[in-house]
Amino acid sequence: MTQNPFHLISGKAALAGVIGWPVSHSLSPALHGYWLAKCGIDGAYVPLGLPPERFEEAVKAIPALGFKGFNVTIPYKERILPLLDRVDEAARRLGAVNTVTVTEGGALHGSNSDGFGFTEAVSEARPGWEKAVTRALLLGAGGAARAVAFALQGKGVGHIIVSNRTEMRGKDLAADLVRLGVSCGVAPFPPRPEDLAGADLVVNTTSLGMTGQPPFEMDFKGLRPHALAADIVYNPLETVFLAGARAQGLATVGGLGMLLHQARAGFKLWFGRDPDVTAEQRTLLEGMMKP
Ligand code: ATR
Repeated sequence: MTQNPFHLISGKAALAGVIGWPVSHSLSPALHGYWLAKCGIDGAYVPLGLPPERFEEAVKAIPALGFKGFNVTIPYKERILPLLDRVDEAARRLGAVNTVTVTEGGALHGSNSDGFGFTEAVSEARPGWEKAVTRALLLGAGGAARAVAFALQGKGVGHIIVSNRTEMRGKDLAADLVRLGVSCGVAPFPPRPEDLAGADLVVNTTSLGMTGQPPFEMDFKGLRPHALAADIVYNPLETVFLAGARAQGLATVGGLGMLLHQARAGFKLWFGRDPDVTAEQRTLLEGMMKP
């Protein structure tokens, strides 16, 4: 990648951004800004805080402003759907969009790269994992769980157990996975040792462990020693869940990787390059997250 330490942008700069409310805590401008500078691209990625009462008006104005596209974050991942001209199948199945492209004609095309981000982050930690993982235990059944579950299905993981606090929600997700051909079961939350016994991968997709939420004190006993434990929580970077897994001798995947890798999809669509996630970039973002 070409180094452009000053990241000068011209009047012709390609524009992208992230819409959300609030958006001030988003790491996306920094992580895209890093790639723009590294790749020497004449472009900018900006935070777009859209207050709820002006959301529709602002989204409709984005093509006229010349943006190539944008990411969508909380609380608009579902609310954006009716404003889009086309939504790809994966995003439609999730009912959530995190990446939008503006076409030459000004149409808005939505997709969702969260699942891609998750599987790429696992690949970074353990290349070729999909050949070894036949059975996964999914903790949670919300929007993030759906993105991870469908991505695992896409990678050929044939058996998924869903462990969720609200049993009905877990059963709904399991039923959707069965329709996609995955052999699926539900387990109580938290899972019992027998629910962990055959799993090659266990993923926390609940909000437990996020800053402001109670920690997730998971008992990993029963998991096979080769199993991977992944947490999609990245704030804080080091969660009680990850520390507990490591204490059991398990390999772990933290949540920052998913954030970084999901961003690659949008960057490629808007700026034309599939950028590398680097250790330097991680360190810079980790530094920004320190209180
Ligand atoms: P997201 O879209 O980020 O996944 P969500 O749809 O609100 O957010 O889902 C949050 C997940 O965390 C759900 O699986 C939720 O369990 P319920 O379906 O029972 O609500 C789980 N979760 C949140 N707080 C929890 C807690 N204190 N204990 C266990 N699970 C919790």
